[in-house]
Amino acid sequence: MKLFIETFGCQMNISDSEIVASILDGEGYQICGTAAEADLVFLNTCAIRDNAEQRVRKRLRELSGLKRKQPGLMIGVLGCMAERMKEQLLEEELMVDLMAGPDSYRELPAMLLQVSSGQRVANVMLSEAETYEDLSPVRHHSDGVSAFVSIMRGCQNFCAYCVVPYTRGKERSRAPESIVEECRKLMTDGYREVTLLGQNVNSYHWQGDRSLRFPDLLKEVASAVPSMRIRFATSHPKDISDELIATIANTPNVCHHVHLPAQSGSNRILHLMNRKYTREWYLGRVKALREAMPDVAISTDLIAGFCSETEEDHMETLSLMRECHFDFAFMFAYSERPGTSAAEKLADDVPTTVKKRRLNEIITLQQELSLESNKADIGLRFSVLVEGVSKKSDQALFGRTPQNKVVVFPAGDLKAGDTVDVVIHDCTSATLLGKTV
Ligand code: SAH
Ligand code: SF4
Ligand code: F3S
Repeated sequence: MKLFIETFGCQMNISDSEIVASILDGEGYQICGTAAEADLVFLNTCAIRDNAEQRVRKRLRELSGLKRKQPGLMIGVLGCMAERMKEQLLEEELMVDLMAGPDSYRELPAMLLQVSSGQRVANVMLSEAETYEDLSPVRHHSDGVSAFVSIMRGCQNFCAYCVVPYTRGKERSRAPESIVEECRKLMTDGYREVTLLGQNVNSYHWQGDRSLRFPDLLKEVASAVPSMRIRFATSHPKDISDELIATIANTPNVCHHVHLPAQSGSNRILHLMNRKYTREWYLGRVKALREAMPDVAISTDLIAGFCSETEEDHMETLSLMRECHFDFAFMFAYSERPGTSAAEKLADDVPTTVKKRRLNEIITLQQELSLESNKADIGLRFSVLVEGVSKKSDQALFGRTPQNKVVVFPAGDLKAGDTVDVVIHDCTSATLLGKTV
Protein backbone atom coordinates (compact mmCIF):
# COMPACT_ATOMS: atom_id res chain seq x y z
CA MET A 1 0.00 0.00 0.00
CA LYS A 2 1.19 3.49 -0.79
CA LEU A 3 0.87 6.38 1.63
CA PHE A 4 1.15 10.08 0.82
CA ILE A 5 1.38 12.51 3.75
CA GLU A 6 0.95 16.21 3.20
CA THR A 7 1.97 18.38 6.14
CA PHE A 8 0.58 21.80 7.03
CA GLY A 9 1.53 24.08 9.93
CA CYS A 10 4.59 24.09 12.14
CA GLN A 11 7.79 22.07 12.50
CA MET A 12 6.06 20.01 15.17
CA ASN A 13 3.69 18.73 12.51
CA ILE A 14 6.61 17.83 10.23
CA SER A 15 8.05 15.82 13.09
CA ASP A 16 4.66 14.19 13.75
CA SER A 17 4.28 13.19 10.09
CA GLU A 18 7.61 11.37 10.41
CA ILE A 19 6.22 9.51 13.44
CA VAL A 20 3.05 8.59 11.53
CA ALA A 21 5.19 7.29 8.64
CA SER A 22 7.13 5.19 11.15
CA ILE A 23 3.96 3.72 12.70
CA LEU A 24 2.53 2.75 9.31
CA ASP A 25 5.86 1.57 7.91
CA GLY A 26 5.56 -1.51 10.12
CA GLU A 27 2.05 -2.10 8.75
CA GLY A 28 3.14 -2.34 5.12
CA TYR A 29 2.56 1.24 4.00
CA GLN A 30 5.35 2.87 1.98
CA ILE A 31 5.66 6.60 1.50
CA CYS A 32 5.10 7.80 -2.06
CA GLY A 33 5.59 11.17 -3.72
CA THR A 34 2.11 12.21 -4.94
CA ALA A 35 -1.53 11.83 -3.95
CA ALA A 36 -2.35 10.46 -7.42
CA GLU A 37 -0.31 7.28 -6.89
CA ALA A 38 -1.42 6.75 -3.26
CA ASP A 39 -3.90 4.30 -1.71
CA LEU A 40 -4.05 6.43 1.41
CA VAL A 41 -3.62 10.20 1.74
CA PHE A 42 -3.14 11.88 5.10
CA LEU A 43 -3.37 15.61 5.56
CA ASN A 44 -1.58 16.53 8.79
CA THR A 45 -3.35 19.78 9.53
CA CYS A 46 -2.94 23.11 11.32
CA ALA A 47 -5.61 25.19 13.06
CA ILE A 48 -3.56 28.17 14.21
CA ARG A 49 -5.35 30.74 12.03
CA ASP A 50 -8.47 30.65 9.91
CA ASN A 51 -6.43 30.85 6.69
CA ALA A 52 -4.47 27.73 7.76
CA GLU A 53 -7.78 25.84 7.94
CA GLN A 54 -8.95 27.28 4.62
CA ARG A 55 -5.84 25.86 2.95
CA VAL A 56 -6.68 22.41 4.32
CA ARG A 57 -10.30 22.72 3.12
CA LYS A 58 -9.11 23.63 -0.36
CA ARG A 59 -6.85 20.58 -0.47
CA LEU A 60 -9.70 18.36 0.76
CA ARG A 61 -11.86 19.57 -2.13
CA GLU A 62 -9.10 18.64 -4.59
CA LEU A 63 -8.68 15.22 -2.98
CA SER A 64 -12.45 14.65 -3.09
CA GLY A 65 -12.24 15.14 -6.86
CA LEU A 66 -9.47 12.54 -7.00
CA LYS A 67 -11.49 10.12 -4.88
CA ARG A 68 -14.46 10.34 -7.25
CA LYS A 69 -12.15 8.98 -9.96
CA GLN A 70 -10.45 6.45 -7.64
CA PRO A 71 -13.14 5.34 -5.17
CA GLY A 72 -10.67 3.04 -3.35
CA LEU A 73 -8.61 6.03 -2.16
CA MET A 74 -8.68 6.52 1.61
CA ILE A 75 -8.46 10.06 2.98
CA GLY A 76 -7.45 10.86 6.57
CA VAL A 77 -7.25 14.17 8.41
CA LEU A 78 -4.66 14.24 11.20
CA GLY A 79 -3.38 16.87 13.59
CA CYS A 80 -4.62 20.11 15.03
CA MET A 81 -7.62 20.79 12.81
CA ALA A 82 -8.90 17.26 13.39
CA GLU A 83 -8.50 17.83 17.12
CA ARG A 84 -10.17 21.24 17.06
CA MET A 85 -13.19 20.22 14.97
CA LYS A 86 -13.65 16.67 16.27
CA GLU A 87 -16.55 14.71 14.68
CA GLN A 88 -17.93 17.90 13.13
CA LEU A 89 -15.27 17.59 10.45
CA LEU A 90 -16.55 14.14 9.41
CA GLU A 91 -20.03 15.62 9.09
CA GLU A 92 -18.82 18.53 6.98
CA GLU A 93 -16.28 16.71 4.82
CA LEU A 94 -18.04 13.64 3.50
CA MET A 95 -15.05 12.28 1.58
CA VAL A 96 -12.95 12.01 4.76
CA ASP A 97 -12.68 8.42 6.04
CA LEU A 98 -10.59 8.96 9.14
CA MET A 99 -9.72 11.65 11.66
CA ALA A 100 -6.99 11.39 14.26
CA GLY A 101 -5.79 13.98 16.78
CA PRO A 102 -2.07 14.44 17.62
CA ASP A 103 -2.05 11.95 20.51
CA SER A 104 -3.84 9.06 18.79
CA TYR A 105 -1.38 8.09 16.04
CA ARG A 106 -0.61 4.71 17.61
CA GLU A 107 -4.25 3.81 16.93
CA LEU A 108 -3.91 4.45 13.19
CA PRO A 109 -3.33 0.80 12.13
CA ALA A 110 -6.47 -0.32 13.99
CA MET A 111 -8.44 2.63 12.63
CA LEU A 112 -7.35 1.85 9.07
CA LEU A 113 -8.64 -1.70 9.46
CA GLN A 114 -12.04 -0.25 10.33
CA VAL A 115 -11.87 2.06 7.32
CA SER A 116 -11.12 -0.84 5.01
CA SER A 117 -14.27 -2.56 6.27
CA GLY A 118 -16.27 0.49 5.20
CA GLN A 119 -16.49 2.56 8.39
CA ARG A 120 -15.64 6.22 8.96
CA VAL A 121 -13.68 6.62 12.18
CA ALA A 122 -12.43 9.35 14.51
CA ASN A 123 -10.10 9.38 17.51
CA VAL A 124 -9.39 12.74 19.11
CA MET A 125 -8.45 11.63 22.61
CA LEU A 126 -5.64 13.74 24.09
CA SER A 127 -3.11 12.15 26.40
CA GLU A 128 -1.12 13.40 29.37
CA ALA A 129 1.74 11.00 28.71
CA GLU A 130 2.16 10.26 24.99
CA THR A 131 5.52 11.42 23.58
CA TYR A 132 6.09 8.68 20.94
CA GLU A 133 9.61 8.51 22.37
CA ASP A 134 10.16 4.83 21.53
CA LEU A 135 9.50 5.33 17.79
CA SER A 136 12.13 5.98 15.12
CA PRO A 137 10.76 8.65 12.80
CA VAL A 138 10.86 7.91 9.05
CA ARG A 139 12.40 11.16 7.82
CA HIS A 140 10.58 11.46 4.51
CA HIS A 141 10.48 15.27 4.73
CA SER A 142 14.20 15.62 5.32
CA ASP A 143 17.10 16.61 3.06
CA GLY A 144 19.48 14.23 4.86
CA VAL A 145 21.35 17.18 6.40
CA SER A 146 19.03 18.69 8.97
CA ALA A 147 16.40 16.95 11.12
CA PHE A 148 13.83 17.77 13.79
CA VAL A 149 13.66 15.98 17.13
CA SER A 150 10.65 16.58 19.31
CA ILE A 151 11.60 16.99 23.00
CA MET A 152 8.23 17.83 24.45
CA ARG A 153 4.57 17.95 23.44
CA GLY A 154 1.60 20.10 24.30
CA CYS A 155 1.34 23.55 25.82
CA GLN A 156 -0.45 24.91 28.81
CA ASN A 157 0.42 28.56 28.62
CA PHE A 158 -3.05 29.44 27.33
CA CYS A 159 -2.15 32.63 25.51
CA ALA A 160 -5.58 34.15 25.01
CA TYR A 161 -5.53 34.01 21.19
CA CYS A 162 -4.04 30.54 20.78
CA VAL A 163 -5.66 27.22 19.90
CA VAL A 164 -2.58 25.06 20.58
CA PRO A 165 -3.35 24.15 24.24
CA TYR A 166 -6.71 22.80 23.03
CA THR A 167 -5.34 20.91 20.03
CA ARG A 168 -2.17 19.54 21.61
CA GLY A 169 -3.12 19.06 25.24
CA LYS A 170 -1.00 19.26 28.36
CA GLU A 171 2.70 19.94 28.36
CA ARG A 172 4.86 16.82 28.77
CA SER A 173 8.60 16.30 28.39
CA ARG A 174 10.25 13.36 26.68
CA ALA A 175 12.87 11.22 28.45
CA PRO A 176 16.37 12.70 27.92
CA GLU A 177 17.94 9.32 27.10
CA SER A 178 15.59 8.78 24.17
CA ILE A 179 16.28 12.31 22.88
CA VAL A 180 20.06 11.84 23.09
CA GLU A 181 19.84 8.43 21.47
CA GLU A 182 17.76 9.77 18.57
CA CYS A 183 20.32 12.56 18.02
CA ARG A 184 23.21 10.04 18.08
CA LYS A 185 21.44 7.97 15.46
CA LEU A 186 21.00 11.05 13.28
CA MET A 187 24.72 11.72 13.53
CA THR A 188 25.54 8.12 12.56
CA ASP A 189 23.15 8.43 9.61
CA GLY A 190 25.12 11.44 8.35
CA TYR A 191 22.91 14.29 9.57
CA ARG A 192 24.76 17.51 10.39
CA GLU A 193 22.15 19.53 12.24
CA VAL A 194 19.31 18.88 14.66
CA THR A 195 16.53 21.21 15.80
CA LEU A 196 15.06 20.36 19.20
CA LEU A 197 11.35 21.06 19.05
CA GLY A 198 8.60 22.03 21.45
CA GLN A 199 5.97 24.77 21.73
CA ASN A 200 8.02 26.16 24.58
CA VAL A 201 11.34 24.34 24.80
CA ASN A 202 12.67 26.32 27.72
CA SER A 203 9.98 24.93 29.98
CA TYR A 204 11.30 21.41 29.22
CA HIS A 205 11.40 19.58 32.56
CA TRP A 206 12.08 15.87 32.84
CA GLN A 207 11.24 14.38 36.20
CA GLY A 208 12.05 10.69 36.24
CA ASP A 209 14.94 8.96 37.93
CA ARG A 210 16.60 12.40 37.73
CA SER A 211 15.41 15.94 37.18
CA LEU A 212 16.55 17.78 34.08
CA ARG A 213 15.73 21.21 32.66
CA PHE A 214 16.31 22.61 29.19
CA PRO A 215 19.86 24.02 29.67
CA ASP A 216 21.01 20.61 31.01
CA LEU A 217 19.37 18.81 28.11
CA LEU A 218 21.00 21.18 25.63
CA LYS A 219 24.42 20.45 27.15
CA GLU A 220 23.86 16.68 27.08
CA VAL A 221 22.69 16.68 23.48
CA ALA A 222 25.50 19.01 22.37
CA SER A 223 28.21 16.83 23.92
CA ALA A 224 26.67 13.59 22.62
CA VAL A 225 26.75 14.86 19.01
CA PRO A 226 29.75 17.24 18.92
CA SER A 227 29.95 17.27 15.11
CA MET A 228 26.34 18.41 14.71
CA ARG A 229 24.84 21.87 14.91
CA ILE A 230 22.14 22.22 17.54
CA ARG A 231 19.13 24.51 17.15
CA PHE A 232 15.94 24.73 19.18
CA ALA A 233 12.48 26.28 18.84
CA THR A 234 10.42 27.88 20.26
CA SER A 235 11.50 29.80 23.35
CA HIS A 236 8.91 31.63 25.44
CA PRO A 237 10.26 35.01 26.63
CA LYS A 238 8.85 34.47 30.14
CA ASP A 239 11.33 31.71 30.90
CA ILE A 240 14.48 32.35 28.98
CA SER A 241 16.82 32.29 31.96
CA ASP A 242 20.35 33.61 32.44
CA GLU A 243 21.45 29.99 32.74
CA LEU A 244 19.97 29.18 29.34
CA ILE A 245 21.59 32.26 27.77
CA ALA A 246 24.98 31.24 29.24
CA THR A 247 24.51 27.68 27.95
CA ILE A 248 23.78 28.87 24.41
CA ALA A 249 26.76 31.23 24.56
CA ASN A 250 29.22 28.70 25.99
CA THR A 251 28.34 25.48 24.16
CA PRO A 252 30.32 25.55 20.90
CA ASN A 253 27.92 23.58 18.69
CA VAL A 254 24.74 25.36 19.82
CA CYS A 255 23.83 27.95 17.16
CA HIS A 256 23.64 31.60 18.13
CA HIS A 257 20.04 32.06 17.06
CA VAL A 258 17.06 32.46 19.35
CA HIS A 259 13.48 32.57 18.15
CA LEU A 260 11.70 34.62 20.78
CA PRO A 261 8.10 35.46 19.88
CA ALA A 262 7.20 38.92 21.23
CA GLN A 263 3.63 39.08 19.79
CA SER A 264 3.18 42.75 20.77
CA GLY A 265 5.15 45.72 22.12
CA SER A 266 2.30 47.06 24.25
CA ASN A 267 2.07 46.07 27.91
CA ARG A 268 -1.71 46.42 27.87
CA ILE A 269 -2.01 44.02 24.91
CA LEU A 270 0.59 41.60 26.31
CA HIS A 271 -1.49 41.42 29.49
CA LEU A 272 -4.72 40.81 27.55
CA MET A 273 -2.89 38.12 25.58
CA ASN A 274 -1.89 36.43 28.86
CA ARG A 275 1.76 36.37 27.74
CA LYS A 276 3.04 36.72 31.34
CA TYR A 277 5.84 39.21 30.56
CA THR A 278 6.11 42.93 29.98
CA ARG A 279 7.76 44.93 27.26
CA GLU A 280 10.51 45.86 29.76
CA TRP A 281 11.14 42.19 30.59
CA TYR A 282 11.32 41.32 26.91
CA LEU A 283 13.77 44.16 26.19
CA GLY A 284 15.88 43.05 29.16
CA ARG A 285 16.10 39.49 27.79
CA VAL A 286 17.10 40.75 24.35
CA LYS A 287 19.78 42.92 25.95
CA ALA A 288 21.11 39.97 27.97
CA LEU A 289 21.23 37.80 24.83
CA ARG A 290 23.09 40.44 22.81
CA GLU A 291 25.54 41.11 25.66
CA ALA A 292 26.32 37.42 26.10
CA MET A 293 26.59 36.86 22.32
CA PRO A 294 27.31 39.92 20.17
CA ASP A 295 26.78 37.75 17.07
CA VAL A 296 23.38 36.32 18.14
CA ALA A 297 20.43 36.54 15.74
CA ILE A 298 17.04 37.13 17.31
CA SER A 299 13.85 36.40 15.42
CA THR A 300 10.28 36.83 16.55
CA ASP A 301 6.55 36.37 15.89
CA LEU A 302 4.21 39.37 15.89
CA ILE A 303 0.42 39.65 15.80
CA ALA A 304 -1.28 42.77 14.37
CA GLY A 305 -4.77 43.81 15.43
CA PHE A 306 -5.42 41.77 18.57
CA CYS A 307 -8.67 42.60 20.43
CA SER A 308 -8.93 46.30 21.39
CA GLU A 309 -5.49 47.15 19.93
CA THR A 310 -5.24 50.94 19.46
CA GLU A 311 -2.99 52.94 17.19
CA GLU A 312 -0.78 53.65 20.25
CA ASP A 313 -0.47 49.92 21.02
CA HIS A 314 0.48 49.31 17.39
CA MET A 315 3.11 52.08 17.55
CA GLU A 316 4.58 50.33 20.58
CA THR A 317 4.96 47.14 18.55
CA LEU A 318 6.79 49.10 15.84
CA SER A 319 9.06 50.75 18.42
CA LEU A 320 9.78 47.39 20.09
CA MET A 321 10.84 46.04 16.70
CA ARG A 322 13.24 48.97 16.23
CA GLU A 323 14.65 48.64 19.74
CA CYS A 324 15.22 44.90 19.42
CA HIS A 325 16.41 45.15 15.85
CA PHE A 326 14.97 41.75 14.96
CA ASP A 327 16.92 39.87 12.33
CA PHE A 328 13.84 38.07 11.07
CA ALA A 329 10.13 37.82 11.91
CA PHE A 330 6.94 35.87 11.22
CA MET A 331 4.09 38.37 11.16
CA PHE A 332 0.35 37.70 11.31
CA ALA A 333 -3.02 39.46 11.43
CA TYR A 334 -5.00 38.34 14.47
CA SER A 335 -7.44 35.54 13.63
CA GLU A 336 -10.05 34.67 16.23
CA ARG A 337 -10.05 30.95 17.08
CA PRO A 338 -13.24 29.39 18.47
CA GLY A 339 -12.92 28.13 22.03
CA THR A 340 -9.95 30.30 23.04
CA SER A 341 -10.32 32.72 25.93
CA ALA A 342 -10.01 35.72 23.60
CA ALA A 343 -12.90 34.38 21.51
CA GLU A 344 -15.00 33.85 24.63
CA LYS A 345 -14.20 37.04 26.54
CA LEU A 346 -12.84 39.72 24.20
CA ALA A 347 -14.34 41.39 21.15
CA ASP A 348 -12.48 40.91 17.85
CA ASP A 349 -13.05 44.60 17.24
CA VAL A 350 -10.16 45.77 15.06
CA PRO A 351 -11.60 46.03 11.51
CA THR A 352 -9.96 43.75 8.93
CA THR A 353 -8.76 46.73 6.88
CA VAL A 354 -7.01 48.17 9.95
CA LYS A 355 -5.46 44.78 10.84
CA LYS A 356 -4.12 44.49 7.31
CA ARG A 357 -2.75 48.03 7.26
CA ARG A 358 -0.99 47.52 10.60
CA LEU A 359 0.36 44.16 9.46
CA ASN A 360 1.72 45.80 6.31
CA GLU A 361 3.45 48.48 8.38
CA ILE A 362 5.01 45.75 10.52
CA ILE A 363 6.14 43.81 7.43
CA THR A 364 7.62 46.93 5.78
CA LEU A 365 9.56 47.82 8.91
CA GLN A 366 10.82 44.25 9.30
CA GLN A 367 12.07 44.27 5.70
CA GLU A 368 14.12 47.36 6.54
CA LEU A 369 15.44 45.77 9.73
CA SER A 370 16.29 42.49 7.96
CA LEU A 371 18.10 44.40 5.21
CA GLU A 372 20.10 46.38 7.78
CA SER A 373 20.91 43.20 9.66
CA ASN A 374 22.08 41.51 6.45
CA LYS A 375 24.09 44.56 5.33
CA ALA A 376 25.94 44.46 8.63
CA ASP A 377 27.18 40.98 7.64
CA ILE A 378 28.90 42.22 4.46
CA GLY A 379 32.64 41.61 4.75
CA LEU A 380 32.21 39.10 7.58
CA ARG A 381 33.07 35.42 7.49
CA PHE A 382 30.57 32.70 8.51
CA SER A 383 30.64 28.97 8.86
CA VAL A 384 27.89 27.73 6.52
CA LEU A 385 26.26 24.30 6.53
CA VAL A 386 25.42 23.46 2.89
CA GLU A 387 21.79 22.35 2.47
CA GLY A 388 21.40 22.03 -1.28
CA VAL A 389 21.41 23.56 -4.76
CA SER A 390 20.13 27.13 -5.06
CA LYS A 391 16.68 27.50 -6.62
CA LYS A 392 17.88 30.21 -8.98
CA SER A 393 21.03 28.58 -10.38
CA ASP A 394 22.39 25.04 -10.39
CA GLN A 395 25.87 26.56 -10.32
CA ALA A 396 25.17 27.89 -6.81
CA LEU A 397 24.52 26.25 -3.45
CA PHE A 398 22.61 27.52 -0.46
CA GLY A 399 23.13 26.93 3.23
CA ARG A 400 22.72 28.65 6.57
CA THR A 401 24.92 30.57 8.94
CA PRO A 402 24.72 29.65 12.65
CA GLN A 403 22.43 32.72 12.89
CA ASN A 404 20.00 30.88 10.57
CA LYS A 405 20.46 33.29 7.66
CA VAL A 406 20.34 31.79 4.17
CA VAL A 407 23.53 32.26 2.14
CA VAL A 408 23.91 31.61 -1.61
CA PHE A 409 27.42 31.03 -3.00
CA PRO A 410 29.18 29.40 -6.00
CA ALA A 411 29.04 25.59 -5.83
CA GLY A 412 32.67 24.63 -6.54
CA ASP A 413 32.95 20.93 -5.68
CA LEU A 414 30.95 21.22 -2.45
CA LYS A 415 27.83 19.22 -1.68
CA ALA A 416 24.93 19.17 0.77
CA GLY A 417 26.13 18.34 4.28
CA ASP A 418 29.54 20.05 3.91
CA THR A 419 30.45 22.90 6.23
CA VAL A 420 32.37 25.72 4.61
CA ASP A 421 33.61 29.22 5.47
CA VAL A 422 31.94 31.91 3.40
CA VAL A 423 32.66 35.66 3.23
CA ILE A 424 29.61 37.82 2.52
CA HIS A 425 29.87 40.38 -0.30
CA ASP A 426 26.24 41.34 -0.97
CA CYS A 427 22.68 40.79 0.27
CA THR A 428 18.96 41.35 -0.14
CA SER A 429 16.54 41.61 2.80
CA ALA A 430 16.05 37.81 2.59
CA THR A 431 19.40 36.35 1.49
CA LEU A 432 23.14 36.80 1.91
CA LEU A 433 25.44 36.35 -1.10
CA GLY A 434 28.94 35.08 -0.47
CA LYS A 435 32.12 33.40 -1.68
CA THR A 436 33.84 30.43 -0.12
CA VAL A 437 37.27 31.01 1.41
N1 SAH B 1 4.62 28.22 20.88
C1 SAH B 1 5.04 29.30 20.14
C2 SAH B 1 4.18 29.71 18.96
C3 SAH B 1 3.22 28.78 18.34
S1 SAH B 1 2.14 29.39 17.12
C4 SAH B 1 5.13 30.46 21.07
O1 SAH B 1 4.50 30.51 22.07
O2 SAH B 1 5.81 31.38 20.76
C5 SAH B 1 3.14 30.40 16.11
C6 SAH B 1 2.71 31.83 16.07
O3 SAH B 1 1.43 31.97 15.50
C7 SAH B 1 2.57 32.51 17.41
O4 SAH B 1 3.78 32.90 17.95
C8 SAH B 1 1.68 33.68 17.08
O5 SAH B 1 2.44 34.80 16.66
C9 SAH B 1 0.87 33.18 15.92
N2 SAH B 1 -0.53 32.95 16.31
C10 SAH B 1 -1.00 32.06 17.20
N3 SAH B 1 -2.34 32.16 17.31
C11 SAH B 1 -2.72 33.15 16.46
C12 SAH B 1 -3.98 33.73 16.12
N4 SAH B 1 -5.10 33.32 16.70
N5 SAH B 1 -4.00 34.73 15.21
C13 SAH B 1 -2.85 35.17 14.62
N6 SAH B 1 -1.64 34.65 14.91
C14 SAH B 1 -1.57 33.65 15.81
FE1 SF4 C 1 0.17 29.13 21.86
FE2 SF4 C 1 1.13 30.60 23.83
FE3 SF4 C 1 1.41 27.95 23.90
FE4 SF4 C 1 2.79 29.39 22.15
S1 SF4 C 1 2.97 29.48 24.38
S2 SF4 C 1 1.67 27.52 21.74
S3 SF4 C 1 1.38 31.01 21.61
S4 SF4 C 1 -0.51 29.08 24.03
FE1 F3S D 1 -0.63 24.60 13.69
FE2 F3S D 1 -0.91 22.75 15.49
FE3 F3S D 1 1.49 23.61 14.88
S1 F3S D 1 -2.22 24.49 15.23
S2 F3S D 1 1.11 25.73 14.33
S3 F3S D 1 0.11 22.55 13.54
S4 F3S D 1 0.80 22.94 16.87
